[in-house]
Amino acid sequence: MESTNSKLVGIATSMLVIMISRVVIIAMVMVMPMMITMVMSAHAQDMKSGEAMFRQCAACHTLEAGKNKIGPSLHGVFGRKAGTVDGFTYSDAMKNSEITWDEKTLAEYLRAPKKMVPGTKMTFAGIKNDTKLQDLIAYLKQAMQ
Ligand code: HEC
Repeated sequence: MESTNSKLVGIATSMLVIMISRVVIIAMVMVMPMMITMVMSAHAQDMKSGEAMFRQCAACHTLEAGKNKIGPSLHGVFGRKAGTVDGFTYSDAMKNSEITWDEKTLAEYLRAPKKMVPGTKMTFAGIKNDTKLQDLIAYLKQAMQ
C-alpha cells in the first residue's frame, strides 16, 4: 500500500515537473520574439531620430566624399583629424584644434561648438538633448559603414 502511494506521488511529481517545464518553455518561446521586436524597434527609433537630427546638419554638410557645402563633407569623419578635408577653407581655430573626431569629441563639439572650438565658423547653437545627440552620432556612425 505504501509503495503504491509513493509511486503515485512520484508520478504526480514528475507530471508536475513536465507541466511546469512546458509552461516555462512556452513562456520563453512567446517572450523571445517580443523581446527581439522591442530591441529592434528601439534601435529603429534611434536611427529615425538620428536621421531627423541630421536634417539640421544637412543644410551645411553632406555625407558624400569630396562634396563640401557651407561646411566640409562629413564622409569618414570618425577617426579623422579636424580641419583636414581637401578643398575646404576652415577657420584657424578648427585647423589648429588638434582634435581627432570620435564619438566623444563629436559629442562635445556638437553639444556646444563654440565652447569646444572657440572661433569656429560653424554657426550652430548645439544640441542640448543628450539622447538626441547620441541618436545623431549613432546615425552618423551607421551612415559611414
Ligand atoms: C550653418 C551651417 C552648419 C550647420 C547647420 C552645421 N555645421 Fe558643422 N560645420 C560648418 C562649418 C562652416 C564648419 C567648419 C568649421 C570651422 O572651420 O571652424 C563645420 C565643421 C564641422 C565639423 C568638423 C569637420 C572637420 O572636417 O573637422 C563637424 C564634425 C561638423 N561640422 C558636424 C556637424 C553636424 C553633425 C551638424 C549637425 C548637428 C553640423 N555640423 C551643423 C557648418 C555647419
